[in-house]
Amino acid sequence: MVKSLEVAKWFVSLGKEPQNYLGAKWIPALLRRVPESGRPLWALRILSLSPHYFFDHDNPKYRGMSNTEYLEANFDAVTKSRENIYEKMLSRYLDANDTVLDYGCGPGFLAKATAPYVRKIYGLDLSLGAIECARIINSAENIEYIAVGKDGLDAIPDGGLNAVYSFAVIQHLTNEVFEIVLKNCYRKLKPGGQLLLHIQLNDETWKSEEEFRKDRSAKGRVKFKIGLHCFGRTEQEHIEIVSKHGFEIVEIKKLENFFTEFADEIRSQRLLVARRGD
Ligand SMILES: C[S@@+](CC[C@H](N)C(=O)[O-])C[C@H]1O[C@@H](n2cnc3c(N)ncnc32)[C@H](O)[C@@H]1O
Repeated sequence: MVKSLEVAKWFVSLGKEPQNYLGAKWIPALLRRVPESGRPLWALRILSLSPHYFFDHDNPKYRGMSNTEYLEANFDAVTKSRENIYEKMLSRYLDANDTVLDYGCGPGFLAKATAPYVRKIYGLDLSLGAIECARIINSAENIEYIAVGKDGLDAIPDGGLNAVYSFAVIQHLTNEVFEIVLKNCYRKLKPGGQLLLHIQLNDETWKSEEEFRKDRSAKGRVKFKIGLHCFGRTEQEHIEIVSKHGFEIVEIKKLENFFTEFADEIRSQRLLVARRGD
């Protein structure tokens, strides 16, 4: 019952493309109608309709809280987690003069954490609703949020970026979409520009795209169509697909090297660092 409610929530917020949670056009329209003072809380409420954000209401640390208290506490927790990601990981790769793209920025927590330390950030996401929420809860003077479909990639100059980073995104992409993302990154990066991809290797809990697709039962097909895609790939598969698109692999680092405190949870996660060839 709870699961059906969850799926119904995702479904009403879906845009036209698969995986486009909060992509429905009613979301930005609604947020623009809310009085400005109420928009941040409404943005958090909207975000909790998606499987990507604010989905751990049952965590004992939120026990006894009202929904508003939970959303605000979770906002603080995600803000801190993204500050930690910038400090321990991205800060090693980005410079103060860099123009950077956050690919799949969602509601902009990591872009906001990174913005004080670079020249400019473009935050790009498939979802119109996530981008509208980012503009409300995570804006900064040097961040420009862009929805892939609406504003489009043309807002970013070709060959204009020093770096592209993408966190918690690649595992949600089919190979077909991953290749489109890599083509876009190649086009927007300067020659020699850095590509920083957070990746998930397949292990006993992370199935491959092929395994997902094999389930041809009615439930399996609905799951593939509207459920959240979560695919693992081998290190070699990542290397091949990234290299095929004109990037030279620099290093693949275990995420636990950056975040020793979460070593058990992130054992199969890596940071793939590559450079755009000429
Ligand atoms: C788990 S969220 C991560 C958000 C953010 N990177 C973070 O770490 O807080 C994954 C995001 O990827 C976005 N996404 C999925 N497919 C995409 C695509 N093809 N192009 C751009 N964004 C995409 C989703 O809309 C979602 O906001």
